[in-house]
Amino acid sequence: MAESDFLALSGSAKEADSGPRPVPRHVALIMDGNGRWAAKRGLPRFEGHRRGVEALRRAVRAAIGIGIQYLTVYSFSVENWSRPREEVQGLMGLLHRFIRNDLAELNANNVRVRVIGARAGLDADVAALLREAEQVTEGNSGLTLVVAFNYGARQEIAAAARAIAEAVAAGRLSLNDIDTDAISAHLHTADIPDPDLIIRTSGEQRLSNFLLWQAAYAEFVFLPINWPDFDEGAFKAAIEDYAHRDRRFGRVEPVACNAKTGS
Ligand code: IPE
Ligand code: IPE
Ligand code: MG
Repeated sequence: MAESDFLALSGSAKEADSGPRPVPRHVALIMDGNGRWAAKRGLPRFEGHRRGVEALRRAVRAAIGIGIQYLTVYSFSVENWSRPREEVQGLMGLLHRFIRNDLAELNANNVRVRVIGARAGLDADVAALLREAEQVTEGNSGLTLVVAFNYGARQEIAAAARAIAEAVAAGRLSLNDIDTDAISAHLHTADIPDPDLIIRTSGEQRLSNFLLWQAAYAEFVFLPINWPDFDEGAFKAAIEDYAHRDRRFGRVEPVACNAKTGS
């Protein structure tokens, strides 16, 4: 798609005749294929991860330019601990460097950083860094960058179930209060809207324990490219694809692209 078409689609002049602005409020990225990117080039997997961080930087800048309000990035799953020790250490080092090097720019760009995933069991220095990123950017009002780190959706749902059971046992909540809103309110994403669009690179077509609850009515775009090759053009093309989807939320007529699912 030509750049001008994209701008025309999201521009205010077109809004009156083409309905609501077709920019997803919340995009979630499954940044997959770093290892395969490296293998194709005869490079170590770490080099793929290093180039993956550069792609992440580009994606954040592109998200700001596009006008996305929430960008969630799957950076490390609970299952990723079962990778070789050396690879896990390399990934931790990259997270460290990303926050150290990029926090100032993120802050200057009015980005608010949020982290979802389990904090328990993380190295103290990693946990402190994540906290710092959240605290430093807490007052920002631009893009919310949600970093899914040590994240697993089933674990998140199980933790919510435990918290709800505790509240019932303590008499703070009645059984009849346990509805879909109550469950959403006990997830790490409690105050974050559900993703409108989930993009996964690398050609795999699965969620891999990512946002299982929140993805109930998300649109999906699966791209055949590996994550380090993801750029602004690929991002805008995925948004354009999304803009042409009919979201029905179980109804007969399509609903505006940014409408809430209601539950
Ligand atoms: C995504 O790339 C990065 C993480 C999961 C941390 P991979 O490392 O999964 O790359 P592939 O899928 O093996 O190519
Ligand atoms: C999903 O990718 C996790 C992240 C992108 C952080 P994986 O590479 O771990 O997923 P599977 O193992 O192919 O399903
Ligand atoms: Mg992978």
